Amino acid sequence: MRPIRFLLNEQLRELADVSPTLTVLEWLRGPAGMTGTKEGCAEGDCGACTVVLGTPTADGQMHYRAVNSCILFVPTLDGCQLLTVEHLKAADGRLHPVQQAMVDHHGSQCGFCTPGFVMSLFALYVSEPRPTRARVNDVLSGNLCRCTGYRPIIDAAQAMYDYAWDEPVHAHAAQTARRLNELRSDPEPLQLEHEGHHYFAPTSAAQLDALLAAHPKATLLAGGTDVGLWVTKLHRDLGDVIYLGNVAELHGIDDRGDELVIGAAVTHAQAFDVIAREFPDFGELLRRFGSTLVRNSSTVGGNVANGSPIGDSMPVLIALGARVALRGPEGEREIPLEDLYIAYGKQSRKPGEYVLRLRIPKLKTGEQFRCYKLSKRFDQDISAVCAAFKLRLENGCVAEFRAGFGGIAAIPARARKTEQALTGQPWNDATLSHAEAVLGEEFTPLTDMRASREYRRLATTRLLRKFFIETTEPETATRVLDAEVV
Ligand SMILES: Cc1cc2nc3c(=O)[nH]c(=O)nc-3n(C[C@H](O)[C@H](O)[C@H](O)COP(=O)(O)OP(=O)(O)OC[C@H]3O[C@@H](n4cnc5c(N)ncnc54)[C@H](O)[C@@H]3O)c2cc1C
Ligand code: FES
Ligand code: FES
Repeated sequence: MRPIRFLLNEQLRELADVSPTLTVLEWLRGPAGMTGTKEGCAEGDCGACTVVLGTPTADGQMHYRAVNSCILFVPTLDGCQLLTVEHLKAADGRLHPVQQAMVDHHGSQCGFCTPGFVMSLFALYVSEPRPTRARVNDVLSGNLCRCTGYRPIIDAAQAMYDYAWDEPVHAHAAQTARRLNELRSDPEPLQLEHEGHHYFAPTSAAQLDALLAAHPKATLLAGGTDVGLWVTKLHRDLGDVIYLGNVAELHGIDDRGDELVIGAAVTHAQAFDVIAREFPDFGELLRRFGSTLVRNSSTVGGNVANGSPIGDSMPVLIALGARVALRGPEGEREIPLEDLYIAYGKQSRKPGEYVLRLRIPKLKTGEQFRCYKLSKRFDQDISAVCAAFKLRLENGCVAEFRAGFGGIAAIPARARKTEQALTGQPWNDATLSHAEAVLGEEFTPLTDMRASREYRRLATTRLLRKFFIETTEPETATRVLDAEVV
């Protein structure tokens, strides 16, 4: 067994006896004695705990992403660089441009949220040239401020590029990447044992298969944006943990011409560009999935495997006709995504099976697709209702219709009765009215804090109507333009 090895800012740290579920935030504020990073909610919602993770890229440079340290487990830092707010200023004490711009633009009052904002903006500063205000809004979607207000912070974000700075982190990027690649070249995958609990970080599917056979009750960990909360909020003992982030076969995005194939451990941030290019509506929905901080960790496979009835990607993937590849003791198999979900918390995955990848067919000529997320807030909110529709018309009649819904049943659901009611019918108002009646009866949604049963039922039919209007009267304005919400 070897220790967890990572760079804390520029310094190599080796940690041997660590609980697999110790969070990076707990470690920073406790044993590491670095209290610049704050704790607000401990559930990925407020951004006070934002840190930046650096990983080497294929071309020997560094990629930096801001993440929530409150739901990130320390062993997953292995082979990464962890940058904290303490590291930003120059050796002679001069503030980093992000910090100086926050001071000059009055971007802080109580200051509790400030280190988190600074780290999100720092990741932006080292990754992208001069963003638009809309882009800054997206980047800050996971950082909450309750006293300053966002305008001065966004002003600071735009002004930070105007300051001269002679100590850019990326100047050391090649050297840092070399140091990390050396750490990563250790052929021995990380394994830890702490008070009877194990942590494994396999690097291949074969190693993962063997580990699952030996530890069938182990918890699979990907981005930890669900699993992290089981620890910080539910105080659950996860037992042994198997981390999926290093398994080579779970990575990669492959554009095969007629379909996209996305590895289960690909993050939503990594998948964003290709998804938004192929399915602009899906891209827009992903822009509202959690926050930038969440999407920098959350994985495509984690969302699907968690299978929450209010999860966002599944209704969309179901409407698009996506298939999920599973791997287990009996080898690999592939099923339509909707067949993964049987009942609340119950899936058709066999013991030892895990999600390997997703195959998403691209739209063919003549196919129309839309998806919609209804939530109380624009960013960082779980859906009350999510709906997605794919339509192909032939001679004015519905040749094919697929509908996926979230928030209206115990599982992510395909609306088969509504699909049947539409198929073969003319795509007109009378057909739509009938389909709305069928859809209104097809599910029995719950009432909860997000929405009442009646709201959800009505919303599903209204969203179907919206889709109808968008496909029959494209001149009718049905959407708020980005420019209007900036
Ligand atoms: C602040 C916040 C906001 C959020 N907002 C949204 C939102 O808007 N929409 C939404 O849908 N979700 C949201 N989520 C939930 C969460 O981000 C997603 O479900 C995410 O996709 C989970 O991915 P992960 O990689 O973090 O999974 P993890 O937390 O690592 O794992 C989730 C579950 O999947 C299992 N698992 C992971 N990968 C695999 C695999 N390859 N094979 C088998 N099992 C696997 C794990 O064992 C666990 O049961 C939010 C979460 C937070 C904290
Ligand atoms: S403490 Fe609130 S997001 Fe981490
Ligand atoms: S400055 Fe107080 S919460 Fe942001």
